[in-house]
Amino acid sequence: MERTFIMIKPDGVERRLIGKIISRIENKGFNITKAKLFMPSVELVEKHYAEHYGKDFYNELVSFISGGTVMAMIVEGENCIQVMRLLIGDKNPVNATPGSIRGDHASSTTYNIIHGSDSSDTAKREIALWFGGEE
Ligand code: PPS
Repeated sequence: MERTFIMIKPDGVERRLIGKIISRIENKGFNITKAKLFMPSVELVEKHYAEHYGKDFYNELVSFISGGTVMAMIVEGENCIQVMRLLIGDKNPVNATPGSIRGDHASSTTYNIIHGSDSSDTAKREIALWFGGEE
């Protein structure tokens, strides 16, 4: 069964959207097989977003994600990587379809509530980074 890494970002936690987001994942038929609510270290967030190092949004992104509580999750289900990306919606609020999580709740490219792995290789890397040694 396919697995993906999902993170509710600090704005989603602060806005008390955890329940709504979990419901949407479960209503879609996916299982949350691991979850933890905590404030990630700068080092962990830098590793997670390493491919964006040097981009103009990188520093703000790292301090945003490491500056609050996140909910990190492993989600499991058929084609869950691609389906979760659709359910999450585009990072650009102009392109986030109404009905998607970002389309319904986010209006910023940085403060956009939720992250989901974009490919199978990324999912494996992110699950190992956030849950390595705990499985
Ligand atoms: S890129 O460089 O835009 O093609 O990268 P992408 O793979 O789409 O993911 C970018 C992640 O950084 C977050 N972010 C921003 N992207 C673009 N512009 C700005 N200003 C920005 N600020 C933050 C974006 O939400 C993606 O995060 P995740 O958590 O992967 O969705």
